[in-house]
Formats: sequence, structure tokens, C-alpha cells
Amino acid sequence: MQKTEVIVALDFAEKQLALDFCKNNLAELTWVKVGMELYYSAGSEILVQLKDLGLKIFLDLKLHDIPNTVAQSMRVLAKHQVDMLNCHIAGGSKMLLEASKAYKDSCKQKSYLIGVTQLTSTDENILRQDLKIELPISEVVNAYAQLARHCELDGVVCAASDLENMHNLFDADFFAVCPGIRLAEDQKNDQVRVVDPYHAKKLGAKFLVVGRPITQSKDPQVVLKKYKSELLKI
Ligand code: C5P
Repeated sequence: MQKTEVIVALDFAEKQLALDFCKNNLAELTWVKVGMELYYSAGSEILVQLKDLGLKIFLDLKLHDIPNTVAQSMRVLAKHQVDMLNCHIAGGSKMLLEASKAYKDSCKQKSYLIGVTQLTSTDENILRQDLKIELPISEVVNAYAQLARHCELDGVVCAASDLENMHNLFDADFFAVCPGIRLAEDQKNDQVRVVDPYHAKKLGAKFLVVGRPITQSKDPQVVLKKYKSELLKI
């Protein structure tokens, strides 16, 4: 069984809150996720400060634009030397191929470029009524993941429950990053289809993204240790 790692989502509105959290819990942290909220409020300086703490960074900016704009942005973002970056697969094959080539050519170190399949906030009503996509969501996610692999991305973001339909797609060269992970005793918050860490790993997830159960806990290190210990049971 491959190693599965926990990425802690730093969904804080202010840089100092994110940095204090990391400094206070450094002993247990390896990977952190910087999303739009923190990046747009703190700027790229936060990436330097997190790297100085020795943390690995998933920069979750979900790029989606015309191929040239995304490729040029990839070249700029490569300078920050993060360990993982993403874009929307819905941008299509030309955007994905140009993004992948631009990012890989510009990165000085190993960094993963992954694709967002369908947001877990999208349901079949939104697919049909708003986006005019008639296929079941599981088929859409599967097709997007195949496109990402074909376009040389390193993996996809998807719900762990989606992995049941896709297990042939993942191997040492292509992996799944799964949010919506909860222990049985955790609050679900606004996540609907949650999976616990043990089953997410069993289904093939290589990275689990966990935010509020850890960041809003009274004792984040205890909770993070619990997630890690669940992953060692398999
Ligand atoms: O607090 P919680 O564990 O629900 O946080 C999950 C993190 O994963 C958040 O940063 C959220 O934006 C992100 N995410 C998600 N569902 C997706 C993609 C990203 O929950 N499909």
C-alpha cells in the first residue's frame, strides 16, 4: 500500500493566524495548503515564510483561463518553488498541455501539477441546469481525470468517494488528492460526502486535505496524530 499524507488546509484570512498555527504545530505538520483566501490576503510572502519553516506547500489557486494566460501564470508561479499547484481540468486539453509544459519547464525543483475535476460543491442539478452537462457526475469526474492524465498532469483533486469508479487510473505516476475527509467524531461542517482517512487510503488516495477538524481544534496536534494513526492501520 502506498504512503498517504495529510495536507492541512490553512484556511485563515490573515497571514499571522496561519503562521502562528504552523509554528505552534510544526512538530506534526509536513504539508500545508494555501488557498485563494490566504494567498490573496497575504501575497506570495506567505509562501517564503512557510518554506522557511520547512513545510511543503500545495498552492491551491485553481487556475482556469485561456491557454496562453494559464501557461504564462504557471511560469510566474514556478518561481515560488511550491511543491504542488493546480488548475481546472475544465479549461480543456490545450490549456492543460500548455500549462503542464510551461510549469515543468520553469520549475527548478520537483513540483506536482494537478487538475481539479468537479468541485465537491457541484451536484448533478448544477451540472444539468447551469452547466448543461447531461452525464452523471461520476462519469464526468472519471472523464476529466482521464483527460488530466492524458495531458501529463501528475494527478487530480476529487472526492474520495469518486475513487471507487476510477481505481484503474491511478498508479505511481498519477495520484489522487482528496478533500472532504473526516474522522467519525468530527463535525462535517459543510462537507456532504465525507470519507474517513482509513477508507480514503483504502480507495487509493495519496494525499488527504483536511482543514477545520484540525485548524479549529483545541489541540490540533492530537487530531492530526489521530488522522496519521488511522493511515497506519492499513
Ligand atoms: O475544512 P475542510 O476539511 O472542509 O477543508 C477542506 C479544504 O479542501 C478547503 O480548503 C476546501 O476549499 C478544499 N476543497 C474542498 N473540496 C474540493 C476542493 C477543495 O473541500 N472539491
